[in-house]
Amino acid sequence: MEIKLTINNQGVTAQEGNTLLDAARENDMDVPTICFHEATTANGLCRLCVVEVEGMRLLQPACIVKAAANMKVQTRSEKVVRARKTILEMLASTMDLSDAPEILTMMDEYGASAQRFPDAERRTSDVRDDNPMYIRDYSKCLLCWRCVQVCADDAQYTYAINFEGRGFETQIGTFFDKAIPETTCVLCGQCVGVCPTGALKPKRQFLLEQGVSTDEISVMNTGRKRRKEKPT
Ligand code: SF4
Ligand code: FES
Repeated sequence: MEIKLTINNQGVTAQEGNTLLDAARENDMDVPTICFHEATTANGLCRLCVVEVEGMRLLQPACIVKAAANMKVQTRSEKVVRARKTILEMLASTMDLSDAPEILTMMDEYGASAQRFPDAERRTSDVRDDNPMYIRDYSKCLLCWRCVQVCADDAQYTYAINFEGRGFETQIGTFFDKAIPETTCVLCGQCVGVCPTGALKPKRQFLLEQGVSTDEISVMNTGRKRRKEKPT
């Protein structure tokens, strides 16, 4: 069933059950997102998609709030822009966004300063290089949960990774911190495909960025294949 609502002072229609994000995008109105991905279940984690809904005290995450008849929504009010700018500044203050071009573009668009919170504690992590397919650099992870979801019920049903730790210490990890080859991971690469920040990166791309030549990478791969084929 179709419902009628107002977005940015413009009367629009939306399918009942659709979110405010769906309604806005179907009507060519931009709402930025980070944790939302079409292939994963929305959890409203990053809050970058917040919009102002008349009569509601708090800003609402458009990726999970359903559109309702007669709602009056503003996707770019002063309050919304201020909230998005602050979220981007907090992210830039605490993590490495150098491999997240879409988020860096949003920072420009919202005039967000990476220096706004100079005393913020940064999330740091060593690069984990423990399998032939991808590396994990959690200093670039913003905990959007997309990788966990595609590894679980949204796609692969493998459950190799999940959240671990609490509060600021929260990060994505494997059970008992096992190396990837010792987990249920099947190296499908879906987590790498949905990661928005380069925290998960194909091993080949990582090696090329480190200055390793394609010939050296071929030698590494051949050596690995031989070791695998060697009878025990
Ligand atoms: S590793 Fe990437 S996909 Fe996974 S939670 Fe972090 S940023 Fe999101
Ligand atoms: S995109 Fe909606 S909360 Fe992250």
